[in-house]
Amino acid sequence: MNHTNEEKCEYQQRRKELMAQMEPNSIALVAAAPARTRSNDTDYYYRQNSDFYYLTGFDEQDALLALIPGRKQGEVVLFCQEKDKLKELWTGVLMGPDAARIELSLDDAFPIADIDDILPGLIEGRERVYYSMGHDSRFDERVMEWVKVIRAKAKLGAQPPGEFLVLDHLLHELRLIKSKHEIALMQRAAEISAEGHRQAMAVCAPGVHEYTLEAEFNYAFTRGGSRAPAYNSIVAAGDNACILHYDRNDAEVKDGDLILIDAGCEYKYYASDITRTFPANGTFNPQQKAIYEIVLKAQEAAIEAVQPGAPWDAPHSVSVKVITQGLIKLGLIEGTLANAIKTEAYRDFYMHRVGHWIGIDVHDVGDYKIDEKWRLLEPGMVTTIEPGIYIAPDNKRVPKKWRGIGVRIEDDVLVTKKGNRVLTTGIPKTVAEIEAFMAKAKQKRAA
Ligand code: GLY
Ligand code: MN
Ligand code: MN
Repeated sequence: MNHTNEEKCEYQQRRKELMAQMEPNSIALVAAAPARTRSNDTDYYYRQNSDFYYLTGFDEQDALLALIPGRKQGEVVLFCQEKDKLKELWTGVLMGPDAARIELSLDDAFPIADIDDILPGLIEGRERVYYSMGHDSRFDERVMEWVKVIRAKAKLGAQPPGEFLVLDHLLHELRLIKSKHEIALMQRAAEISAEGHRQAMAVCAPGVHEYTLEAEFNYAFTRGGSRAPAYNSIVAAGDNACILHYDRNDAEVKDGDLILIDAGCEYKYYASDITRTFPANGTFNPQQKAIYEIVLKAQEAAIEAVQPGAPWDAPHSVSVKVITQGLIKLGLIEGTLANAIKTEAYRDFYMHRVGHWIGIDVHDVGDYKIDEKWRLLEPGMVTTIEPGIYIAPDNKRVPKKWRGIGVRIEDDVLVTKKGNRVLTTGIPKTVAEIEAFMAKAKQKRAA
């Protein structure tokens, strides 16, 4: 992957910021993601580890970054694959340590094949080791092996580290606040995904399959320069919309179905996450419309609640209120608003939270609570806002006409200094917009 000078400076800056927060006399180790087998001897399309990518912009496997603040001979050290003509013939160009040193502005770079000889020497004498503990048992084991090498030389005066610290907290607090450049990439991811959603909506008609719609947005994602969806796409027609993580996407779309599409591309390592729900035949029936209007109102209120200084929970609370109010009005929940919220009666219909951080990971890193209290939103944070109502097809407590309706509306929202900015714009969202858009698309198809 080629990077602009601006990007290179940003990776360097992130490493500096992380090192500035590390305890004295420590070392941080961040490993590249391993290749993962898909079947027999073929791998999944390679995806770099998000933390590693955030600090390096380097997308090769078999690599490890060591950050050693205060080390005189160099603080930023990378281990990576050596150039290898035969390997490169099969799988593509490798950067190699010499070029990596310059390209990635490192202090030093070594062949990954030499890591067991070199890394223990870098750890030795450091009191603390930061790494992403407990995520990959093979990496955990390797860290312990390097420590053992030092311990074995203790009689010769070698000092093994005494403390092992989770790197996640320091690093993930940095990742939580997005830079201008990151926001621009997320904006681009959102635009590509919006194009995909519009295309899927435009070709939808009873008789197509869920995967027909998936094909439309996959085409738009790839055409836009995305190399993969940010998560398994959900294309759920009719009752399937009530399965929260439905991803079979192989059913036939029926007249009268609502279609819930939850899909977003990853663009240059940044995710987008969008859900739209629309009628297969282009027109909402009265029950579908009533539920849709409640979810839309909840989403609008929740987006409005995304404000700097507001607690993380504010958008969720307001979405619960609007949804509960709406369901009481329709007679689907009984009792007063206050009581229905207290007893969480809404959870039969709205069983997930209103959103999550989004960034390099679709469910991005960063704490939601600090000292057991919901943290306050800050400019540069990006969250999804995705309320929904799902009436199970077998919910015997509601009249039949309501059963099997699943609606979610999801957008990605940036916290700004003055309020918020929705990144995922340009897809029909109100009932009127959706019906007008689909009618026009139908006309075009018929012409
Ligand atoms: N598509 C996953 C989510 O909305 O969180
Ligand atoms: Mn989603
Ligand atoms: Mn989401």
